[in-house]
Amino acid sequence: MHYGSKRPDELPFNPFKAIIAPRPIGWIGTLNAKGVPNLAPYSFFNGVGSGPDMVMFASEGKKHSYTNARDSGEFSFSLVTAELSHAMNISSGNVSEEINEFELAGLEEGRPVEIQAPFVAASPAALECVTVDAFQLKDRHGVLIDKFIIVGEVVQTHIKDEFLRDGFFATTAAQPIARMGYRDYTSVTNAWSLARPDDPVQSGFSDPNAL
Ligand SMILES: Cc1cc2nc3c(=O)[nH]c(=O)nc-3n(C[C@H](O)[C@H](O)[C@H](O)COP(=O)(O)O)c2cc1C
Repeated sequence: MHYGSKRPDELPFNPFKAIIAPRPIGWIGTLNAKGVPNLAPYSFFNGVGSGPDMVMFASEGKKHSYTNARDSGEFSFSLVTAELSHAMNISSGNVSEEINEFELAGLEEGRPVEIQAPFVAASPAALECVTVDAFQLKDRHGVLIDKFIIVGEVVQTHIKDEFLRDGFFATTAAQPIARMGYRDYTSVTNAWSLARPDDPVQSGFSDPNAL
């Protein structure tokens, strides 16, 4: 099967998100103009560079996280784990910007060091980000479409000590969840390593919890 802009009838739902999978979930914390904390998950999210560490998320329509990150110039990222999945789902609700979604989801606010927007205190890892770019996407004809990108530079990294092992962040101990298509998720529960051809020595597993 292959198709262009017209999806065949036997595919009732667009498989795109099930193909571009798994996607990390950026659980984005922001403050609105009145200082009300906002929290929402974005799986059109990724790291886009390191040193300086850079992340991005994409908003389908101008959602609160986009306008807050653009206008306040900052946002937080929190890692979503299986334990936090219910709270993450609650925070995806389309609610008024007057509502503090940390409170709505029963989450304690982690106190940031360099920015004002809180993160999820219970998360194994969180990032404080300064917004460096906010722009609208264009399609291939150069026509602006209803999708908006935020790019941020990481200025502080928070890691809970219990997830640090011999200087490594133990991703499989944190067990982040990731988004697939439809309403499906997956969990990161195992890891394996592959040394690169140019590596000076054949290295073993770097994740101490790797199977
Ligand atoms: C796991 C998950 C991932 C999501 N990813 C996105 C995304 O990448 N872009 C988007 O616009 N909405 C995404 N959503 C929907 C938003 O979280 C939802 O519209 C939310 O109400 C936006 O909140 P805000 O207006 O406070 O930013 C996602 C929802 C879930 C549950």
